[in-house]
Amino acid sequence: MTQKASQQTVIVTGASSGIGKAAAEAFAMMGWYVIGTGRNPERCDQAETDIRSAASADARVAFVRGDFSEMSDVKHIAGEIAGLTNNIHILINNAGGVRDQRYITEEGNEATFAANHLAPFLLTRELLPQLKTAASGSPTGTVRVLAVSSTAHEYVPSLNWDDLQNLETDPFPATPAYSQAKLANIMYTRELNRRVSDDGIVAHAMSPGIVLTNFASYGDDAMQAYLKDEPGATAEEAARTLVWMATSPECGIDGGRNFYELEEKPVSEVAQDATSAARLWSETEAILAGLGV
Ligand SMILES: NC(=O)c1ccc[n+]([C@@H]2O[C@H](COP(=O)([O-])OP(=O)(O)OC[C@H]3O[C@@H](n4cnc5c(N)ncnc54)[C@H](OP(=O)(O)O)[C@@H]3O)[C@@H](O)[C@H]2O)c1
Repeated sequence: MTQKASQQTVIVTGASSGIGKAAAEAFAMMGWYVIGTGRNPERCDQAETDIRSAASADARVAFVRGDFSEMSDVKHIAGEIAGLTNNIHILINNAGGVRDQRYITEEGNEATFAANHLAPFLLTRELLPQLKTAASGSPTGTVRVLAVSSTAHEYVPSLNWDDLQNLETDPFPATPAYSQAKLANIMYTRELNRRVSDDGIVAHAMSPGIVLTNFASYGDDAMQAYLKDEPGATAEEAARTLVWMATSPECGIDGGRNFYELEEKPVSEVAQDATSAARLWSETEAILAGLGV
């Protein structure tokens, strides 16, 4: 099926499971062109089937696969997405999660930092032309980049500037490394918003709270024990906030905010520090340049 000019396009990363899958299904029900990404082959196949089943007759669904821990994969995924559409109205950087120990990727990055921070930075950079094309033909503020962060960002006093990726910090601080990556999501979102607002694009972050997904299965014993008996929201409930952030007029202004359950939620003081956000931006650019991407 070809895309109607009026059809909105959303990219949802991490659509093979949990919050991302629920969001992709919701957009497909609304008749959007939904492009999901995922990593685990079986979960990707199942999610693609489920998103297609949920889709309304005028929706379109595509699914691309790759590992966001490797920037070569992210670049490949960005290329596949660019081959599927010239217009991106909403980019939801949702893929990510906590790890149980330090995994160094083939490219030499720490996997938590790579998947949660480097990947959305690179994917967004690569897809900016499609976001700007959509923005040039859309009302100001309707093209948005949304990051799924976490209240875990509040649990660390700052980024670990001496070892940004926790490549050498011993023992590997699994949960703080995740919290730092989620802090990076908010800092990045605020800096991105500053840089793209003249193009009519808005960037926001969200904290989903505890959500009953596959999330804990990647974490260490302490994380699994912590989440085992916690009551949590469903993935569909968390996805509702993402859909609202993507479509509501009130989220089309004053970018750089953070949301939880359909309401604005303040972020930690360090997350609001513009100097740190600018430093994170330039250090991230340097890491990616070092990788040749
Ligand atoms: N659940 C919570 O309580 C909670 C709380 C705060 C924030 N969050 C955030 O919410 C987001 C979504 O997580 P979720 O709760 O929905 O967990 P989930 O069910 O585990 O879903 C995570 C999604 O991200 C994908 N993903 C993770 N690492 C990836 C990688 N290296 N490469 C490619 N894809 C990757 C997964 O792909 P595969 O399944 O195909 O591997 C999956 O589609 C994450 O950013 C997480 O940090 C969750």
